Amino acid sequence: MKTDILIVGSGCAGLYCALNLPKDKKILMITKDIVEHSDSFLAQGGMCMLKSPDDYQSYFNDTMRAGHFENNPAAVETMIKESPDLVKDLLSYGVDFQRDEEGNLAFTREGAHTHNRILYHKDVTGKEITSHLYEQCKKLENLTIQEQWMMVDLLCENNRCYGIVVRKDNGQLDTITANDTVLACGGIGGIYRYSTNYRHLTGDGVAAALRHGVEVQNINYVQFHPTTFYSEKEEDRSFLISESVRGEGALLYNNKGERFTNELLPRDIVTRNIKKEMKKEGTNHVWLSMRPIEPEQLESHFPNIVKHCRDNGYDVPKDMIPVVPAQHYFMGGIKVNLQSKTSMEQLYAIGETACNGVHGRNRLASNSLLESMVFAKRAAIEMTEQFQNTETREFTDVDFAPYQDEKAWAEENKRMILKEMGDKKDV
Ligand code: SIN
Repeated sequence: MKTDILIVGSGCAGLYCALNLPKDKKILMITKDIVEHSDSFLAQGGMCMLKSPDDYQSYFNDTMRAGHFENNPAAVETMIKESPDLVKDLLSYGVDFQRDEEGNLAFTREGAHTHNRILYHKDVTGKEITSHLYEQCKKLENLTIQEQWMMVDLLCENNRCYGIVVRKDNGQLDTITANDTVLACGGIGGIYRYSTNYRHLTGDGVAAALRHGVEVQNINYVQFHPTTFYSEKEEDRSFLISESVRGEGALLYNNKGERFTNELLPRDIVTRNIKKEMKKEGTNHVWLSMRPIEPEQLESHFPNIVKHCRDNGYDVPKDMIPVVPAQHYFMGGIKVNLQSKTSMEQLYAIGETACNGVHGRNRLASNSLLESMVFAKRAAIEMTEQFQNTETREFTDVDFAPYQDEKAWAEENKRMILKEMGDKKDV
């Protein structure tokens, strides 16, 4: 199979990248599951934006402080400055962000933000954004989306990428060649036992990069979200209790009913404080009380979270709910520049798969959807400008034997990622 541009992954990064590519280029997007099963659809809290020039410095500082000043300042600046254009695009696609009584965009707050600057749609902001991107993508005549197709390996030679080896929905192995390949395959939560991510998101892009010597960065920078719903049932995925619930006033308590942390500290610190408290008390979880939130506001802003709690026997806001940290986000990834270009020619990485250093050591809440789309568009612009310098190659003699045992290949991917992460094996 042959295409001009191949996008591996169908979250908001992949979809928005496709929307920004030229209409005369043939684009093939493959996704390991179905389009709706990307982590972008799961994002609850919201998406930050530069709501006015006055907020620039404070937003920049909050992002840097949360990231322990290990962020790439140029990437932070780019992300913040390009956010209003992105929001304009999203509104033009029909994304329905919450408005205030005057009809202006409304903003919520999460940990480590000094101001309210987070756009939201109830507690399903990711679904609202990503489903509109998907609807726009369906209108593109130059885009084909193949669901249940999985990237197995890169096709590359002399540090130039020519496409991928793919396992199709019928189990058959094949090659797809392309002038440019974009890895937008999400994070690594699937290799963790407790994660808010879909289980099929197992760092396939990162593993492929490691296998072929593509540079990676900050690979042991993994974020644990402080508050996921604690359940004794074996769950596929931990249910997120959005940080915006704490941003709107919810409070954390230990088993004795005492507060033990400021709920709005950066995520890594709240997680550490919860883990310390659990260890001290010998418990599996701490408690979150939503009583400080006005009941009408709780129901209208967080209908899905409220439903989840009630379905599981907790009548919020009257009852406190048990919460526990779980793996949530990967700040590291395939090293890219500000145009989302990797160290390999004709290979780009965007979204959680990529690391341009914007998040530093700990991502500020609600910077992920924003970052993934800002840098996805930059990848699209770069590919458009550089397309005439790309080349293609036929691969007729690929030996598929190493890929036949799917389970062994996945185990090897996981082993490589964990080895690269060193001692951060909290899986
Ligand atoms: C949340 O709603 O707490 C998650 C938002 C994020 O990961 O930034």
